[in-house]
Amino acid sequence: MGVIGASGSGKSRWLKDGLRRMRPSRLLIWDPQDEYGEFGQVVTDTRELVEVLAALGPADGFQIVYRPGDDMSTYRWKFDLFCEIAYQIERLCVVVEEVADVTSASYAPPYWSRLSRKGRHRAMTMFAVTQRPAVIDKTFLGNCTLIHCCRLNDKNDISVMAATLGVPVDDVRNLKADPDTGVFQFIERNMQTGEIGCGALDSRGSHSARPERNVSSLPAPEANVT
Ligand SMILES: Nc1ncnc2c1ncn2[C@@H]1O[C@H](COP(=O)(O)OP(=O)(O)OP(=O)(O)O)[C@@H](O)[C@H]1O
Ligand SMILES: [Mg+2]
Repeated sequence: MGVIGASGSGKSRWLKDGLRRMRPSRLLIWDPQDEYGEFGQVVTDTRELVEVLAALGPADGFQIVYRPGDDMSTYRWKFDLFCEIAYQIERLCVVVEEVADVTSASYAPPYWSRLSRKGRHRAMTMFAVTQRPAVIDKTFLGNCTLIHCCRLNDKNDISVMAATLGVPVDDVRNLKADPDTGVFQFIERNMQTGEIGCGALDSRGSHSARPERNVSSLPAPEANVT
Protein backbone atom coordinates (compact mmCIF):
# COMPACT_ATOMS: atom_id res chain seq x y z
CA MET A 1 0.00 0.00 0.00
CA GLY A 2 1.40 3.34 -1.00
CA VAL A 3 0.63 6.38 1.15
CA ILE A 4 1.42 9.62 -0.62
CA GLY A 5 0.97 13.29 0.23
CA ALA A 6 2.72 16.52 1.13
CA SER A 7 4.13 17.13 4.59
CA GLY A 8 1.29 17.53 7.10
CA SER A 9 -1.33 16.09 4.74
CA GLY A 10 -2.38 13.32 7.14
CA LYS A 11 -0.39 10.31 5.87
CA SER A 12 1.01 9.20 9.20
CA ARG A 13 -2.25 9.92 11.02
CA TRP A 14 -4.16 7.73 8.55
CA LEU A 15 -1.58 4.97 8.77
CA LYS A 16 -1.42 5.00 12.57
CA ASP A 17 -5.20 4.97 12.74
CA GLY A 18 -5.16 1.97 10.41
CA LEU A 19 -2.52 0.13 12.45
CA ARG A 20 -4.56 0.65 15.62
CA ARG A 21 -7.51 -0.98 13.90
CA MET A 22 -5.55 -3.75 12.14
CA ARG A 23 -3.50 -4.70 15.20
CA PRO A 24 -1.01 -6.74 13.17
CA SER A 25 0.35 -9.65 15.14
CA ARG A 26 3.74 -9.36 13.41
CA LEU A 27 4.76 -5.79 12.83
CA LEU A 28 8.07 -4.22 11.82
CA ILE A 29 8.31 -0.45 11.35
CA TRP A 30 11.09 1.65 9.79
CA ASP A 31 10.65 4.80 11.88
CA PRO A 32 13.17 7.53 10.92
CA GLN A 33 11.17 10.29 12.61
CA ASP A 34 10.76 8.57 15.98
CA GLU A 35 6.98 8.72 15.92
CA TYR A 36 5.75 5.09 16.11
CA GLY A 37 6.80 4.28 19.69
CA GLU A 38 3.26 3.40 20.75
CA PHE A 39 3.19 0.49 18.30
CA GLY A 40 5.88 -1.72 19.75
CA GLN A 41 9.31 -2.29 21.22
CA VAL A 42 11.64 0.48 20.08
CA VAL A 43 15.00 -0.74 18.77
CA THR A 44 17.75 1.66 17.74
CA ASP A 45 20.70 -0.71 17.53
CA THR A 46 20.97 -2.79 14.36
CA ARG A 47 22.61 -5.70 16.14
CA GLU A 48 19.76 -5.74 18.65
CA LEU A 49 17.26 -5.77 15.79
CA VAL A 50 18.87 -8.88 14.33
CA GLU A 51 19.12 -10.57 17.72
CA VAL A 52 15.54 -9.83 18.77
CA LEU A 53 14.12 -11.13 15.50
CA ALA A 54 16.42 -14.16 15.39
CA ALA A 55 15.22 -15.21 18.86
CA LEU A 56 11.58 -15.37 17.76
CA GLY A 57 9.86 -18.65 17.03
CA PRO A 58 7.95 -19.12 13.76
CA ALA A 59 4.58 -18.67 15.50
CA ASP A 60 5.57 -15.79 17.79
CA GLY A 61 3.89 -12.43 17.51
CA PHE A 62 5.94 -9.25 17.84
CA GLN A 63 5.79 -5.52 17.23
CA ILE A 64 9.13 -3.84 16.61
CA VAL A 65 9.77 -0.20 15.84
CA TYR A 66 13.24 0.21 14.34
CA ARG A 67 14.71 3.71 14.47
CA PRO A 68 17.65 4.20 12.11
CA GLY A 69 18.67 7.47 13.77
CA ASP A 70 19.63 10.88 12.45
CA ASP A 71 22.69 10.01 10.37
CA MET A 72 21.20 9.50 6.94
CA SER A 73 24.55 8.42 5.51
CA THR A 74 23.97 5.10 7.35
CA TYR A 75 20.47 4.59 5.98
CA ARG A 76 21.57 2.69 2.90
CA TRP A 77 23.09 -0.28 4.68
CA LYS A 78 20.59 -0.14 7.53
CA PHE A 79 17.67 -0.22 5.11
CA ASP A 80 19.25 -3.07 3.16
CA LEU A 81 19.52 -5.05 6.35
CA PHE A 82 16.00 -4.10 7.45
CA CYS A 83 14.55 -5.32 4.13
CA GLU A 84 16.65 -8.47 4.09
CA ILE A 85 15.42 -9.41 7.55
CA ALA A 86 11.81 -8.49 6.77
CA TYR A 87 11.83 -10.82 3.77
CA GLN A 88 12.70 -13.81 5.98
CA ILE A 89 9.57 -13.34 8.13
CA GLU A 90 6.26 -14.84 7.02
CA ARG A 91 2.96 -12.99 7.58
CA LEU A 92 4.67 -9.73 8.40
CA CYS A 93 3.23 -6.24 8.27
CA VAL A 94 6.06 -3.87 7.27
CA VAL A 95 5.79 -0.09 7.49
CA VAL A 96 8.38 2.14 5.86
CA GLU A 97 8.09 5.84 6.62
CA GLU A 98 9.50 8.26 4.05
CA VAL A 99 10.71 5.85 1.42
CA ALA A 100 12.24 8.73 -0.49
CA ASP A 101 15.03 8.72 2.11
CA VAL A 102 16.08 5.29 0.91
CA THR A 103 14.87 4.88 -2.67
CA SER A 104 14.74 7.10 -5.73
CA ALA A 105 12.80 7.10 -8.98
CA SER A 106 15.66 5.38 -10.72
CA TYR A 107 17.08 3.29 -7.90
CA ALA A 108 15.44 0.76 -5.61
CA PRO A 109 17.73 -1.05 -3.16
CA PRO A 110 17.75 -4.72 -4.26
CA TYR A 111 16.29 -6.10 -1.01
CA TRP A 112 13.55 -3.47 -1.03
CA SER A 113 12.79 -4.33 -4.61
CA ARG A 114 12.52 -7.99 -3.67
CA LEU A 115 10.09 -7.16 -0.87
CA SER A 116 7.95 -5.13 -3.27
CA ARG A 117 7.94 -7.85 -5.90
CA LYS A 118 7.77 -11.02 -3.83
CA GLY A 119 6.43 -10.10 -0.38
CA ARG A 120 2.91 -11.09 -1.39
CA HIS A 121 4.01 -14.72 -1.62
CA ARG A 122 4.97 -14.52 2.05
CA ALA A 123 1.59 -13.10 3.05
CA MET A 124 3.25 -9.77 3.69
CA THR A 125 1.43 -6.46 4.04
CA MET A 126 3.58 -3.46 3.20
CA PHE A 127 2.93 0.20 3.77
CA ALA A 128 5.29 2.72 2.21
CA VAL A 129 4.87 6.41 2.92
CA THR A 130 6.27 9.26 0.85
CA GLN A 131 5.79 12.98 0.39
CA ARG A 132 6.76 12.91 -3.29
CA PRO A 133 5.44 10.33 -5.76
CA ALA A 134 8.01 11.42 -8.32
CA VAL A 135 10.87 10.19 -6.16
CA ILE A 136 9.42 6.83 -5.12
CA ASP A 137 10.70 3.86 -7.10
CA LYS A 138 8.42 2.58 -9.82
CA THR A 139 8.59 -1.08 -8.77
CA PHE A 140 6.85 -0.28 -5.52
CA LEU A 141 4.20 1.97 -7.04
CA GLY A 142 3.58 -0.56 -9.81
CA ASN A 143 2.97 -3.35 -7.30
CA CYS A 144 0.68 -1.45 -4.91
CA THR A 145 -2.69 -3.02 -4.21
CA LEU A 146 -3.93 0.24 -2.72
CA ILE A 147 -2.80 3.81 -3.19
CA HIS A 148 -3.87 6.32 -0.57
CA CYS A 149 -3.28 9.85 -1.78
CA CYS A 150 -3.53 12.91 0.47
CA ARG A 151 -3.11 16.58 -0.39
CA LEU A 152 -0.17 17.41 -2.64
CA ASN A 153 1.29 20.82 -3.40
CA ASP A 154 3.67 20.25 -6.27
CA LYS A 155 2.12 20.55 -9.74
CA ASN A 156 4.09 17.64 -11.15
CA ASP A 157 3.22 15.41 -8.19
CA ILE A 158 -0.47 16.26 -8.63
CA SER A 159 -0.34 15.22 -12.31
CA VAL A 160 1.57 12.03 -11.53
CA MET A 161 -0.94 11.01 -8.87
CA ALA A 162 -3.99 11.90 -10.98
CA ALA A 163 -2.63 9.63 -13.71
CA THR A 164 -1.78 6.86 -11.22
CA LEU A 165 -5.19 7.03 -9.57
CA GLY A 166 -7.02 7.46 -12.87
CA VAL A 167 -8.93 10.55 -11.69
CA PRO A 168 -9.17 14.10 -13.04
CA VAL A 169 -6.23 16.32 -12.08
CA ASP A 170 -8.60 18.75 -10.32
CA ASP A 171 -9.78 16.00 -7.95
CA VAL A 172 -6.22 15.65 -6.67
CA ARG A 173 -5.48 19.37 -6.80
CA ASN A 174 -8.57 20.16 -4.71
CA LEU A 175 -7.76 17.81 -1.82
CA LYS A 176 -7.71 19.73 1.45
CA ALA A 177 -5.52 19.31 4.50
CA ASP A 178 -6.52 21.71 7.24
CA PRO A 179 -4.91 21.39 10.66
CA ASP A 180 -7.28 24.02 12.09
CA THR A 181 -10.40 21.99 11.37
CA GLY A 182 -8.59 18.66 11.58
CA VAL A 183 -9.95 17.60 8.18
CA PHE A 184 -7.52 15.74 5.95
CA GLN A 185 -9.02 14.57 2.66
CA PHE A 186 -7.78 11.69 0.56
CA ILE A 187 -8.45 9.70 -2.57
CA GLU A 188 -7.75 5.98 -2.71
CA ARG A 189 -7.58 3.54 -5.58
CA ASN A 190 -7.74 -0.19 -5.21
CA MET A 191 -5.22 -1.05 -7.89
CA GLN A 192 -6.59 -4.57 -8.29
CA THR A 193 -10.24 -3.69 -8.85
CA GLY A 194 -9.84 -0.11 -10.04
CA GLU A 195 -12.33 1.07 -7.40
CA ILE A 196 -11.89 4.68 -6.33
CA GLY A 197 -12.77 5.90 -2.84
CA CYS A 198 -12.52 9.28 -1.25
CA GLY A 199 -12.94 10.56 2.26
CA ALA A 200 -11.34 12.40 5.11
CA LEU A 201 -9.89 11.95 8.52
CA ASP A 202 -12.10 13.87 10.90
CA SER A 203 -10.93 15.93 13.86
CA ARG A 204 -10.63 12.84 16.03
CA GLY A 205 -8.46 11.19 13.40
CA SER A 206 -11.03 8.59 12.43
CA HIS A 207 -11.73 7.37 8.93
CA SER A 208 -14.82 8.62 7.16
CA ALA A 209 -14.65 7.43 3.59
CA ARG A 210 -17.86 8.02 1.66
CA PRO A 211 -19.65 4.68 1.62
CA GLU A 212 -20.90 4.89 -1.95
CA ARG A 213 -17.36 5.25 -3.22
CA ASN A 214 -15.56 3.56 -0.41
CA VAL A 215 -12.78 1.09 -0.98
CA SER A 216 -11.82 -1.45 1.59
CA SER A 217 -8.63 0.32 2.42
CA LEU A 218 -7.17 -1.80 5.16
CA PRO A 219 -7.11 -5.48 6.00
CA ALA A 220 -9.44 -6.52 8.82
CA PRO A 221 -7.92 -6.90 12.29
CA GLU A 222 -6.13 -10.19 12.60
CA ALA A 223 -8.13 -12.85 14.36
CA ASN A 224 -5.24 -14.30 16.34
CA VAL A 225 -4.29 -11.15 18.23
CA THR A 226 -4.17 -11.54 21.97
N1 LIG B 1 -2.37 12.80 17.32
C1 LIG B 1 -2.67 13.92 16.68
N2 LIG B 1 -3.72 14.66 17.04
C2 LIG B 1 -4.05 15.80 16.40
N3 LIG B 1 -3.37 16.28 15.34
C3 LIG B 1 -2.33 15.57 14.93
C4 LIG B 1 -1.91 14.36 15.54
N4 LIG B 1 -0.84 13.87 14.86
C5 LIG B 1 -0.61 14.75 13.87
N5 LIG B 1 -1.49 15.76 13.91
C6 LIG B 1 -1.60 16.87 12.96
O1 LIG B 1 -2.22 16.30 11.83
C7 LIG B 1 -1.64 16.82 10.66
C8 LIG B 1 -1.15 15.71 9.81
O2 LIG B 1 -0.06 15.09 10.45
P1 LIG B 1 0.67 13.81 9.86
O3 LIG B 1 1.72 13.46 10.86
O4 LIG B 1 -0.30 12.76 9.51
O5 LIG B 1 1.31 14.40 8.53
P2 LIG B 1 2.14 13.65 7.41
O6 LIG B 1 1.36 13.67 6.15
O7 LIG B 1 2.57 12.32 7.92
O8 LIG B 1 3.40 14.63 7.23
P3 LIG B 1 4.98 14.31 7.12
O9 LIG B 1 5.23 13.91 5.71
O10 LIG B 1 5.61 15.61 7.45
O11 LIG B 1 5.31 13.23 8.08
C9 LIG B 1 -0.58 17.80 11.08
O12 LIG B 1 -1.15 19.09 11.03
C10 LIG B 1 -0.28 17.42 12.51
O13 LIG B 1 0.12 18.54 13.25
MG1 LIG C 1 4.37 11.55 8.53
